Amino acid sequence: MLVSAKDMLQKAKAGKYAVGQFNINNLEWTKAILLTAQELKSPVILGVSEGAGKYMTGYKTVVGMVNGMMEELNITVPVALHLDHGSYEGCLKCIEAGFSSIMFDGSHYPIEENVAKTTELVKIVSEKGMSLEAEVGSIGGEEDGVIGKGECADPNECKAIADLGVTMLAAGIGNIHGKYPDNWEGLSFETLDAVQQLTGDMPLVLHGGTGIPADMIKKAISLGVAKINVNTECQLAFAEATRKYIEEGKDQQGKGFDPRKLLAPGFEAIKATVKEKMELFGSIGKAE
Ligand code: 13P
Repeated sequence: MLVSAKDMLQKAKAGKYAVGQFNINNLEWTKAILLTAQELKSPVILGVSEGAGKYMTGYKTVVGMVNGMMEELNITVPVALHLDHGSYEGCLKCIEAGFSSIMFDGSHYPIEENVAKTTELVKIVSEKGMSLEAEVGSIGGEEDGVIGKGECADPNECKAIADLGVTMLAAGIGNIHGKYPDNWEGLSFETLDAVQQLTGDMPLVLHGGTGIPADMIKKAISLGVAKINVNTECQLAFAEATRKYIEEGKDQQGKGFDPRKLLAPGFEAIKATVKEKMELFGSIGKAE
């Protein structure tokens, strides 16, 4: 059964580790992430962007696939199904469809509007026992065609949003979705420290987990980050393994063209990436 992310993230914050949010795109992604979490006894959050939801034909399909898979694979670790960077309308659709967690990304609105919309969603979500992530200060890079600059959040605005009763808070600290450019200045730990000072026990969320050096990840966790989002890194690993299979001509040998064979190396590559991240984030064994 899907669970809210509240419990797992409060435990992570108190225990100084982070739970990974891994974005899903299809059956292979979902199966790879769920099996790895179960094998490593780690809690996990499955992220679904609005674009990925549309790709998978809609949120109801996603809920049906994830629930069915959890039952058939006997997944017993805590799993949250979470809308990533949702619009207000997208949040309402996912609540209706049976997600257990949502993110409302109001970071591009003036703070008053972000507060007003987040307040409404806090009300709806708490009645349903779901978790809600809010965002202050946009995350840089490209996400579903929207390019953000990667600004640093205003800690006072973070406190204003945290006080509304959200479950977890994403604060921009110079992080970017996708690969980091060579001239990236790194995470602003000064901003993160200031946000944590004002928001106390609130589990903080680090987006753009792909390509952040291990020492920065560890420092971010020590300063209150309890949820780390990873998307691009699984995509790169999948693409590389699939390219290798085809370049080696394996799809042309025997029944190598069978999708169950063709997609297997990419599937294994996602599993390996998820495992590596769970080790780095410290979430292994935390579901026992
Ligand atoms: P990356 O694609 O950079 O890993 O970022 C994922 C993310 O933050 C999803 O919200």
